[in-house]
Amino acid sequence: MTDHRDWTGQVGHIWATEWRRTDRSFGELTPQLLAAAEVETYAHALDIGCGAGELSVALASRYPDRHVTGVDISGELLAVARQRSGDFTNTAFAHADAATFEPRHAPDLLLSRHGVMFFRDPVAAFAHLHDRAARKARLAFSCFRTRGQNAWVTTVMGALAEAPAPPADPREPGPFAFGDRDHVDTVLREAGWREIAFHQIDYRMIFGAGEHPVSDAVDYLTRVGPTASPIAALPDEERAATLVRLASILDDHRQGDTVSLPASAWLVTARKG
Ligand SMILES: C[S@@+](CC[C@H](N)C(=O)[O-])C[C@H]1O[C@@H](n2cnc3c(N)ncnc32)[C@H](O)[C@@H]1O
Repeated sequence: MTDHRDWTGQVGHIWATEWRRTDRSFGELTPQLLAAAEVETYAHALDIGCGAGELSVALASRYPDRHVTGVDISGELLAVARQRSGDFTNTAFAHADAATFEPRHAPDLLLSRHGVMFFRDPVAAFAHLHDRAARKARLAFSCFRTRGQNAWVTTVMGALAEAPAPPADPREPGPFAFGDRDHVDTVLREAGWREIAFHQIDYRMIFGAGEHPVSDAVDYLTRVGPTASPIAALPDEERAATLVRLASILDDHRQGDTVSLPASAWLVTARKG
């Protein structure tokens, strides 16, 4: 389970050093979120779980006359986001739990790229965000569909001789907590959101690229994602054998200078009721 504490500790630390490769893996989602943001004009956007800030920076550069606040619980990821936002005067970053965050301006657009699946009490968190949002505010976020609908997970976990069992409750906080559309619909409805809509995005998640895409992907997957902790916990010999298997699996998914695997996400949109 990746929850609150992981993001303020080791997971946040690794993501802060790996932001280029995590941005690359989510790359296909960004234009779709920006398109959702652009459906109507807005004045104050809130990027929930903004991480290293790619979405916040993209919004700030496109719309210099509109403001964007990124909120995240990881100080290390926010430090990267602040650095990337450079000279923009229309960005702010807040080190806070989005579930209780008090924005300075009521946001009329609430956006997130894969940053909303980690709340311990998602109904309370989305109800709070709903309360703090401006009248008729819009919500748009991406999240993974279920683990089983994301072939990349089963594929890379195939390298492990003994893959850890998935969480007994698929809705527990973590990357796949919002995979079930009915669950997300219930959470948002109970939190007060209306006009809830789901758009399925099937995409290729990039794990490796460049001159040595397979070793790039192996290196990435030993640091980020579901294989990282199980591989780190292995004794040296087993780890070496696992990395060989992982490389062979990833090589099967290499196309030219890229290693990518099928992923599937929801783009969820809603409006303040
Ligand atoms: C999968 S990462 C996505 C980061 C970023 N949105 C991106 O697209 O690169 C999830 C992010 O949510 C943040 N996060 C998790 N729980 C949070 C909470 N309760 N409040 C604010 N941020 C949270 C994490 O620190 C992390 O940056």
